[in-house]
Amino acid sequence: MSNNLVTTAYIAASALFILSLSGLSQTETAKRGNWLGIIGMAIAFAATAFISQGYSVQASSIGLGVLVGVVAASRVAMTSMPEMVAFLNSFVGLAAVLVGFAEYLQPSSTLVGIEETIHRIEIYAGVFIGVVTFTGSMVAVGKLQGILPSRSVLLPARHGLTIAMLIAIAALGAPFLSATGTAGLVPLGIMTAISAVFGIVIVMAIGGADMAVVISLLNSYSGLASAAAGFMLNNDLLIITGALVGSSGAILSYIMCKGMNRSFLNVVLGGFGATSAGSSQGAGQAGDATATNPADVVDILEAANSVVIVPGYGMAVAQAQHAVAEITQILRRQGKQVQFGIHPVAGRMPGHMNVLLAEANVPYDIVLEMDEINDDFANTDVVLVIGANDTVNPSAQSDPTSPIAGMPVMQVWQADTVVVLKRSLSPGYAGVDNPLFYHDNTLMLFGDAKANVNGVLNQLSDVAATDAVAVAA
Ligand code: TAP
Repeated sequence: MSNNLVTTAYIAASALFILSLSGLSQTETAKRGNWLGIIGMAIAFAATAFISQGYSVQASSIGLGVLVGVVAASRVAMTSMPEMVAFLNSFVGLAAVLVGFAEYLQPSSTLVGIEETIHRIEIYAGVFIGVVTFTGSMVAVGKLQGILPSRSVLLPARHGLTIAMLIAIAALGAPFLSATGTAGLVPLGIMTAISAVFGIVIVMAIGGADMAVVISLLNSYSGLASAAAGFMLNNDLLIITGALVGSSGAILSYIMCKGMNRSFLNVVLGGFGATSAGSSQGAGQAGDATATNPADVVDILEAANSVVIVPGYGMAVAQAQHAVAEITQILRRQGKQVQFGIHPVAGRMPGHMNVLLAEANVPYDIVLEMDEINDDFANTDVVLVIGANDTVNPSAQSDPTSPIAGMPVMQVWQADTVVVLKRSLSPGYAGVDNPLFYHDNTLMLFGDAKANVNGVLNQLSDVAATDAVAVAA
């Protein structure tokens, strides 16, 4: 393959990656976006295999990669997707480290003078970012899998230690850059070891519940590591791909922080996520809230004209989305308006709820973003809050002392009736009590979301069948 053809293939692959990202930004076009990415990657592999000429090695490594990737991706549960992403990020980091060492020991091109210095800076920076991404991502996987403690683990002199490590990493750059032959291997090796500890220390300090933001940040680092590998190998496609991953990961982290009304620094230094989800601190008295049952919820739904469903993390845990989709179908057949309201950080990863609803074949046009639906709650008869908590917490707007003060929330309390499906009055991820549960127009349907949604579905189906028989008669 001539150089021109390789360049053309790389440009085509880059364009496909950009189109892929644009497709992935909307649920309707996400599948197409995925395919464009796959085609772009196939073109990139083919062109790279032609340049390197090592067909058998390329074919076997790509084959093995495809096999492992397909098996892993098809088996992973949606709720375990953050672990999977973190695991894959760690591979990118490790690859950048290996490329860095290989480039140093056996450079792919002969450079002298300032060009050699720049190349060494690329190697040093690439290995640093790669190893931090690798160890940081592995710690994130360990925390999410429960192998490591999910709470934030703070070393006594953590800030002093991290600053000392950063100074040592910067200082070791001088002997590495001035070394002749392969003598720089020693400072490079020591820097790698220190950076590995650095990655572990910073991610260990972050509470397990904040891992989604950290993973998105590490994803951005993995893009920078790829771009650094691209500079080392003089491969334009790797630089472009790395830049795309780096910038999209950074933008995603920013959107997540904005949705939670927190700063990067607050996440990285440990905020409310450090207390971890599931804490029952601050839970009010069960007697203060009004409990209901599936039969009463069916009556309320039967009397309603407009229904909004607001899902959250609990719907994902309970895997209630299919039964929710069936309830939606029945209500819509009865001529009621049914819509879904999705908070930008509902669940534990970006787009978590959209993916679950798409999986259950809920029509895209009735799934609305928070900004699109917030003004409609005042004109809504019934809101079903299914396993959501922080994202519907009115104290974010009414209590300036609340840890989530200022976080934009779904204003569900403005509806005539709010039915909240969850197991108890425990707080959600942020560990903050939710006054919504004690409002006069709120009814609590306590229990597992799937069991209760199924309970509502069964009784609603019976009522719908009886109505159909009556109409036919
Ligand atoms: P949360 O505030 O986390 O509340 C989820 C609720 O689901 C819990 O209060 C829990 O109450 C309930 N639940 C758990 N299992 C259940 C089950 N089997 N059946 C019924 N209910 C169940 O959820 P949210 O409103 O979706 O908010 C998301 C939170 O995660 C926000 O604070 C957000 O900032 C944070 N976060 C989001 C992301 C992204 S990108 N989405 C990333 C990191 C952090 P019970 O225990 O009483 O059942």
